[in-house]
Amino acid sequence: MTDLSSVESYLPQIVAAPDLTALESLRIAALGKQGEVTVLLKTLGKMSPEERQARGPAIQALREAVTGAIADRRETLERAALDARLAAETLDMTLPVDAPPTGSVHPVSQVMDELAEIFADLGFAVATGPEIETDENNFDKLNIPASHPARAMHDTFYFEQNARTADGSAQSNPIDGGLAGVEARRMLLRTHTSPVQVRTMQAVADRTNGRGEPIRIIAPGRTYRSDSDSTHTPMFHQVEGLVIDRGITMGHLKWTLETFLRAYFERDDIVLRLRPSYFPFTEPSAEVDVGYTLTKGKRVIGGSDGWMEVLGSGMVHPRVIAACGLDPAEWQGFAFGCGIDRLAMLKYGMDDLRAFFDGDVRWLRHYGFSALDVPTLSGGISS
Ligand code: PHE
Repeated sequence: MTDLSSVESYLPQIVAAPDLTALESLRIAALGKQGEVTVLLKTLGKMSPEERQARGPAIQALREAVTGAIADRRETLERAALDARLAAETLDMTLPVDAPPTGSVHPVSQVMDELAEIFADLGFAVATGPEIETDENNFDKLNIPASHPARAMHDTFYFEQNARTADGSAQSNPIDGGLAGVEARRMLLRTHTSPVQVRTMQAVADRTNGRGEPIRIIAPGRTYRSDSDSTHTPMFHQVEGLVIDRGITMGHLKWTLETFLRAYFERDDIVLRLRPSYFPFTEPSAEVDVGYTLTKGKRVIGGSDGWMEVLGSGMVHPRVIAACGLDPAEWQGFAFGCGIDRLAMLKYGMDDLRAFFDGDVRWLRHYGFSALDVPTLSGGISS
């Protein structure tokens, strides 16, 4: 018959159990169906009441001690096993990811980055303005009064002057900012980036109390006209350029455009042709063509086999300078406006403008740029 002392020897063994497997064997040996403690407990039933009273508490106490020791040891061993696993399973955050990045930079964004880079080198800052504009900034201050035929040419998207609520009551146009008491200005989607000229000059005039200071900015952004075919989309992109200083001439304009287009197309044989033109906000005005060469029936920028119009430009009209609060006797300047989508098409060889805005991932995969390649003049603008 099993005696208590041999069963008690389980206790030191349990405390010393090296791992969970060894502990489990001990548990079965002691507390399993045939286990020594279990067997001992069964002997209680066959004892006389006196004997049971004498030995019972000791056997019960032993069972509890063995059970408790096993639970304690199990917890210790499990915690040690977890610590060991945590120490072994480290995640190396510096390991390169297997999957290539899936997104790509849209050619329009890429070209905007290229423009910012090129013009930053020439000392131009990037300016912005809202796409929802007043007709004052988009037209009036640019010397295009309400009766001017150029307004009709622009196919403008206007907002309703007074929006009506569902119950038919008049409501001031929320886009006007609800200017109570002030005559509501007519809001529109800007038809060109030229209102940023106005905003920039006005900000300078305000800041300097009308004294003025030199300005050199480009303003890339979205523009809108009600027009749609293979070369026109209702939303398109332009970049505006504005230089204001003392003694600015057409020579500065031509040099700046030549330098810009050579850097942009990454060719030295870029030839420009300035054609007299008309814009209400510049005088004189010039449309700028860039020469191309016919290579295997394809137009390649550079040389002068033929000419492609790329931008509009001119000397800022003195009336515009005055309307923005600066003295045109002291300050002169030039401005230009250029279609970004078209610049992208010419450089990267896309031929349908509408594909730019279809959001087709196959097109983006083909024409998109890696997000990690940032254009720089030193590293190659389009690399
Ligand atoms: N805003 C003109 C357009 O959209 C372009 C332009 C800008 C022309 C600046 C001259 C000077 O057609």
